[in-house]
Amino acid sequence: MIKKVVCLVGIAGNGKDILLSCYTLKSYLVQFKEIRDKFNIVVLDYPVSASSEQIRRDIIKVQADYIGFSCYVWNREKVEYLISCFGWNDIIVGGPDILKSEETGRITFITGEGEAALYRYLLGKGPPIQGLDEMPETVVDYTKVDRMSFETQRGCNWRCAYCNYRKGNNKIRYRNPQTVIKEIKQAWESGIKTGRIVDPNFFSDPTHAVVILRGLIDNGIKMRLFFEVIPSYVNDNLTFHCAEYIQNGGELAIALGIQSLNRASLKAINRPNGGEDTAIKMLTAAGATLRLDSILGLPFETRHSYEQLIGYLCNYLAGSKHYPNPNLLMIINGTPLADKVKEFGLEVTDKYVTATPAMSWWDLNFCMKLNAILYRIYGPNSRVRDNYPTMDLEQLTEILLKINDKLPRMMSEDYYYNYMNNDIPDDLL
Ligand SMILES: C[S@@+](CC[C@H](N)C(=O)[O-])C[C@H]1O[C@@H](n2cnc3c(N)ncnc32)[C@H](O)[C@@H]1O
Ligand code: SF4
Repeated sequence: MIKKVVCLVGIAGNGKDILLSCYTLKSYLVQFKEIRDKFNIVVLDYPVSASSEQIRRDIIKVQADYIGFSCYVWNREKVEYLISCFGWNDIIVGGPDILKSEETGRITFITGEGEAALYRYLLGKGPPIQGLDEMPETVVDYTKVDRMSFETQRGCNWRCAYCNYRKGNNKIRYRNPQTVIKEIKQAWESGIKTGRIVDPNFFSDPTHAVVILRGLIDNGIKMRLFFEVIPSYVNDNLTFHCAEYIQNGGELAIALGIQSLNRASLKAINRPNGGEDTAIKMLTAAGATLRLDSILGLPFETRHSYEQLIGYLCNYLAGSKHYPNPNLLMIINGTPLADKVKEFGLEVTDKYVTATPAMSWWDLNFCMKLNAILYRIYGPNSRVRDNYPTMDLEQLTEILLKINDKLPRMMSEDYYYNYMNNDIPDDLL
């Protein structure tokens, strides 16, 4: 029997990571004999910088009968273009950027998780019931990977209004921690030195996270691991295990979602608060490098309250190896905040908030410039952070005023993330 070719196309958001979802889908599907007998499943994996033409040619080369695209905010345009190139193939499109399940001609759009949907699409019947904790390990060809991604859970126990991780109302589910440990072990033994846990909050179930950290320590894994955490979940047992992992030669880079210190802003976006100081202090003592995430432009944030946040961040960044991650609020379609833009009086240009009732355009732009100086000095690629072993809001503001005429009139994230390091020489600061 000639097998049909199912080509799963993943386009990752940067040049370092792979898009895990296509490999996870393939690993899930090929556990079933009926699938293996009828289909060859091929994963094509690209960074977002790959040319659409190259991807188009590769899909043609594998002679795909079915093409699957995993659609994210960063690859949507490319996926739309590629779909238009393959009007005569059967195409299935899923991923977080698909908000509506529908069929238009030969194109099927699916929302939510892809495993059972793809099985049903290919075989015309539902798959055997299988919990996330029973699903097989994700198999990846590590020779083609620099940095590996791992998933330990699905869903999120929060529902922050700005976020497009739209599984907040679903029950959070966990993978078998032993399967996760096995995947990380295999990657480590294949020479992968850096990994990223893609969960929204790796510590959402502290017991689960501890089992994984314990497994990594016991298996002698020393990978540099990145993961994201909500501050209020950090506890003694977790930090004890983080410290042990680091003492044994591993590295941990942990993103802490601070977002804002303004309680009214956090309430407006349905964001958990509290525990920030404790989390930063405990994880610092454990030896982790922290990425401190903030968002400018939230409802009720004022220039004064944001400046307080900047001062707070200065205090933790100066003299440490931590780095800031200051974001400007983006209004993402399909999020609860997108429905409340009017209610909160947010002014939005090209998806970004540019003014609020509590912050004029000028205030917001001024705070963006504070973000820029903070990032220029303490960002991950900074060459000057050691020149500033102490820092506070006043000193940072002085630096801003000194170089203000060299900065773009309207500050953007793109400028301070991608251009400012070269644009503003060290000796100007
Ligand atoms: C992948 S996200 C979520 C991380 C983690 N789940 C949390 O809640 O802290 C990483 C960071 O991006 C920022 N972010 C997420 N959505 C945003 C939005 N719509 N606008 C601006 N920044 C956003 C936040 O600072 C967030 O901590
Ligand atoms: S921002 Fe983080 S915690 Fe909040 S809903 Fe999104 S993923 Fe969950």
